[in-house]
Amino acid sequence: MLRIDSLRKAPNAELQLPGSKSITNRALIIASLAEGTTSLSRALFAEDTLAMIDCLKSFGISIEANQPMETIDVTGTNGKLDAPQDSLWVRQSGTTARFILPISALITAPIQVDGDAQIRSRPQEDLLRALNQLGVEVAYSGEPSHLPLTLNGSNLKVKDIKISGDTSSQYLSALLLVSPCLPQKITFTLEGNAVSLPYIDMTIEMMRSFGAIVEIDEPNTFTVHPTGYTGRDYEIETDASTASYFFAAAAVSQGRVVIDGIGENSIQGDIGFINILEQMGAKVTIGADSIEVSGQNQLKGIEVSMRELSDTAPTLAAIAPYCSGTVRVTDIGFIKNKESDRVSAVVTEMKKLGIDARAEEDGFVIEPGMPIGNVIHSYDDHRIAMAFTVLGLLAEGVVIDDANCVAKTCPEFYEHIDTLRLEGDEELAILAIDGPAGSGKSSLAKLLAQELQLEYLDTGAMYRSVAAEVIAANIDPEAYREVTQITDNIDISFNGQEVFVNAKNLTKQIRSPEVNSIVSYVAANPGVRAILRRAQRSWARQRGGGVLEGRDIGSVVFPKAKLKVYVTATPEERAHRRSLESGRDMKEILNEIQERDEIDSSRTDSPLSVSSNAIVVDTTDKTLSEVANEVLRNFNV
Ligand code: DC
Repeated sequence: MLRIDSLRKAPNAELQLPGSKSITNRALIIASLAEGTTSLSRALFAEDTLAMIDCLKSFGISIEANQPMETIDVTGTNGKLDAPQDSLWVRQSGTTARFILPISALITAPIQVDGDAQIRSRPQEDLLRALNQLGVEVAYSGEPSHLPLTLNGSNLKVKDIKISGDTSSQYLSALLLVSPCLPQKITFTLEGNAVSLPYIDMTIEMMRSFGAIVEIDEPNTFTVHPTGYTGRDYEIETDASTASYFFAAAAVSQGRVVIDGIGENSIQGDIGFINILEQMGAKVTIGADSIEVSGQNQLKGIEVSMRELSDTAPTLAAIAPYCSGTVRVTDIGFIKNKESDRVSAVVTEMKKLGIDARAEEDGFVIEPGMPIGNVIHSYDDHRIAMAFTVLGLLAEGVVIDDANCVAKTCPEFYEHIDTLRLEGDEELAILAIDGPAGSGKSSLAKLLAQELQLEYLDTGAMYRSVAAEVIAANIDPEAYREVTQITDNIDISFNGQEVFVNAKNLTKQIRSPEVNSIVSYVAANPGVRAILRRAQRSWARQRGGGVLEGRDIGSVVFPKAKLKVYVTATPEERAHRRSLESGRDMKEILNEIQERDEIDSSRTDSPLSVSSNAIVVDTTDKTLSEVANEVLRNFNV
C-alpha cells in the first residue's frame, strides 16, 4: 500500500528518467544477432529488460550489464546461437516473450518458453501462426496459442508471410528483428487495421542503424534482406511512455518539467503524448535532446484517437478529471490485452474515486470532477499504478495497493515523483540532523523537537527494525531482493520511546549487538533505502514538518530542509558516551563504531556525508544545551 502525498506546490523539475524499454529490448535482440560487439548506453534496467537479458544469456550470448553506469555490452553471435538447456522464463515481459519466439527460427533444436501467469494469459496466436508458416513447429503445454510452449525451427522454410496487425504491432516487430539472419530475403504484409504503427517504424529504424536492409515497397509491405547486423555503440533515448506521467503532472498542476535524453528526433511514438497536452492547453518546447512541458491554465477536455500511442491512454485518463471538459479516448479497444484490461481498469478505478467515467466499445470517457480518496487496485499493471499516482498528486487520500509493479519498466518511479515535490518540501518545517553513530544526534533531536513543538523521527530505528526482521527471518543481510522484500512488508510505528514492528514491541531488540553488527549492511541496500526514504518523506509531509535524525536526511531525504545540521564528535568521545549508556567495554564499542562509520560512509547509495549547506557542530567538548541553543539560533533566523 502506498499513500500518494499530494503536491503542495506546482513542480519545477528537470528529470533524468531511465532509458526506453522498447528500444533497450530491441537493441538487445539486434546486438545479440549482430556480428561484432555492441555497447548500449543509457540502457533501462528494469524487470522487462532483465528478463530479456536472462533469456538471451540462455542462448550462450555474452552480455555484460553495468547497472550503475546504465551500460550493456553484448558480444554478437552473427545469428549463430546455442540451443538453451532450460526453459526460457520471460517473467511478465510482453516484448521479451514476443521478440524471443522468432529466434526459434534460427535454431535447429527445440526451445521452451514460459513466464508469469499474466504473460501466459496474453495472446500470441498471430505470431505463432506466422512462425508455423515458416516451418517452426509449435507444441503447447497449456492453453493453445499461449505460453508455456515449445518451438522447433529444425524444418525452417523461408517464405513470404501475411500477418495481422490489429492485436499488437509486436508480432511484426518480432519477426522483422530476426529476419536479417534468415538464409533468404523475406517479405511481410501487415493485414487488418494495424495498431501502434510507430513501434514498427521504431523497429525498422533500429534495424537499419545496425546495417539491415528493410524495403517498404508499398504501405504495409516490408522486405528484409539476409544481410545480418553489424554491432556498434548505441545510445538509448529516455523512455517516452515513462516521461508521459511527468509531462502530464506538470501540465495539470500548472507546473513545469524538463525531461532530458529525448527530443525532436525521437523514434518513440509515445512522444506524441505532448501534442495531446498541447492541444489541451499546455506549453510544449521540444529541443534537440530535451523536452519541456509547462501548464498554463486549467487543461481543456479533448476527444482523441490513441491508436498509435495507447500506452499513454491511462496517463491521459489520470489528468482527465481535472480538465474543464470531457475527455474521450477512442480507437484503443485492443488495450484490453495489455498487462491488464486497461479500459476496464481505468473506468473501474475512476468510479471508486467518485469520478463519472464509462467504457465505450473502443475506449473510455471521463467527465470533470474532484477525486475522493480511495485505494486503487493496480491489477499488477505498472501503467495503472503510475497513472493513478499522477492523479493522486492533485487529490487527497489516493492509495495504490501494489505500487511495486512499477519495477517492470521504472523501478525508481516514486523517487522521480518525489522530485516533483521538492518545491513543496521547501514549505515544510524540517530540521534535518545527520551524523555518525554516537555523535549525540538522538538526544539533540529529541530536545529540539520538544523545544520546537515538532514531532521527532529516528530514521536509524527504521533501518534497525528492518535488521531485526532480517535476523528473525534468518536471511543473509546482504541478500538484495529478500531484504528489500522484508522492508516492503514491514510496518514500523513509534509510541514515545517505543518502537513497534509489525505490531510487535521491538524497542529492545533493535539495539541488540546482533542488530548492531548487521544494520550497516542492511542500510547499504538501495532497495531498502528507497522504501524507507519514501516512508520518511511521507511522515514529514503529513505533519507539515518534523525533526528527522539519521545519515542522509539533509543530503537526500530532504535536500530542501529548513535547516540541516551535521553533528559530529571524535570516535573516542562517541565510544565513551555509548559505553556510559550501555556499560559495555569502550574499546569494543570503538571498534564497532569505526567499522560502522566506514560502511556508512563508503556505500554507493546515500553515503554519510556533510550536506552542502549544513551547519557542522562538533559536540566533543560541548554540553547538550550548548549544542541545542546553537541549532535553535540557526533554525529561527
Ligand atoms: O543512528 P543509528 O546508529 O541508529 O543507525 C543505525 C544504522 O542505520 C547505521 O548503520 C546507519 C544507518 N542509517 C542510515 O544509513 N541512514 C539513516 N538515515 C539512518 C540510519
